[in-house]
Amino acid sequence: GAARPRLTFLGCGYLGATYAICYAELGYEVIGYDVDVAKIENLSRGEVPFHEPGLDELLRRNVASGRLRFTTSIEETADFGDVHFICVGTPQRSDGMGADLRYVEASVTDLAKNLSRRALIVGKSTVPVGTAEWVERLVEKHTSEELGVEVAWSPEFLQEGFAVEDVLRPNRIVVGVKTEWSNALLYAAHKGVFDLASTEDREVPVVVTDFATAELVKVAANAFLATKISFINAMAEVCEVAGGDVTQLAKAIGYDPRIGNRFLQAGVGFGGGCLPKDIRAFQARAQELGAGEALRFLHEVDLINLRRRARVLHLAAELLDRRQGPAGPDLAGARVAVLGATFKPNSDDVRDAPALAVAGMLHEAGADVRVYDPQGIDNARKAHPELTFEKSLQEAVAEADLVCVLTEWAEFRNADPAALAAIVGKRLVIDGRNCLDASAWSAAGWTYRGLGRP
Ligand code: UDX
Repeated sequence: GAARPRLTFLGCGYLGATYAICYAELGYEVIGYDVDVAKIENLSRGEVPFHEPGLDELLRRNVASGRLRFTTSIEETADFGDVHFICVGTPQRSDGMGADLRYVEASVTDLAKNLSRRALIVGKSTVPVGTAEWVERLVEKHTSEELGVEVAWSPEFLQEGFAVEDVLRPNRIVVGVKTEWSNALLYAAHKGVFDLASTEDREVPVVVTDFATAELVKVAANAFLATKISFINAMAEVCEVAGGDVTQLAKAIGYDPRIGNRFLQAGVGFGGGCLPKDIRAFQARAQELGAGEALRFLHEVDLINLRRRARVLHLAAELLDRRQGPAGPDLAGARVAVLGATFKPNSDDVRDAPALAVAGMLHEAGADVRVYDPQGIDNARKAHPELTFEKSLQEAVAEADLVCVLTEWAEFRNADPAALAAIVGKRLVIDGRNCLDASAWSAAGWTYRGLGRP
């Protein structure tokens, strides 16, 4: 019943697995469903198939308690749940712009066909606005009207590396609903989050709205974050020609609470499975709806972001005293250590990672590139088999003519510049995340170059 609805999460990728595990932890009975047999076997054994701090322990505890199980059976899933969350991927279409909804379509259709009792289907995947209405029509097509199955939308905002916190202690919950029944059931499905907040003397704000707004909230939030990062990276470009220091500029504007200091870190730009893909899909959808002009600036946001990668290449050529040909710099014979492969620290995710993209560009330019990353090597090797990967920071840096720090892992921030100076070929460092102590590196004899700094 609605007091403690039983929950299912369809799609046990990053989003679905994290939610399934965390909601079991909140006390719900949960099923995680996926078509991928290996993924389901791993999760059932208590193994999280990706790197996320704190999640392994929660998985084991909740599988052991019996509150959480994983299955590839859609019949079992359909039979079990009062509320079904759709958490499947919405990758970038092969045309490079819009979102591919085939997994949403497949999971909703399979689920709907197998439902034999009333249930609520809640979309969580990031989708183009209008998808919820389309899902509702899909459900109507595949279920009988007497069953009374309904659809709602509830976007998520979790950040990799903080996913457990973000799910258990979200800074808001947004629901797009059409009826009191679905609103009440979705409230019950979120009640564990509200209860946890009240024991900690917090409140989780809830925005109850229509489908379109709920869908837009997610892409608007990501567009804003991407814009904020590209804004400061645009200021970095100006600083580079004007002789300013973007890190001080960011600090100074960030003291204004209307601006705020978060997401103002200038560097090699944003990557990952969300921001780059979401801003492109958002533009494509706005275009389809006839509001393309409104989001034209997101194209600039994207271009600024990509220009930062090229900037690292040019800095490398400058430091190594190489010629800039028409096709870019020639780095033949230069040995370059690339520190970082993931799109951000505390993650093993290399999707659209600026670090790995730059490593690829350095390789293209002829450099002998040695990549090291504390967590991302396995994934990076699959994406860029042409690169050389090293097992340690020291091995990557040994004999290097240039060191590029492109993901701000603590291991790199805390590295001793004097010790590294002793093993490199040339003491040249590009700090692509402005995360190193510039004066300490300079004092150890390094020529230090940050992005957007003199
Ligand atoms: C993002 C959103 O933050 C999250 O709310 C949404 O649900 C999914 O997308 P995530 O992809 O995990 O989360 O990464 P995030 O921490 O936002 O970082 C995105 C990228 O921006 C990273 O490559 C990061 O290095 C870069 N970044 C972030 C900057 O370059 N500068 C900053 O100041 C902040």
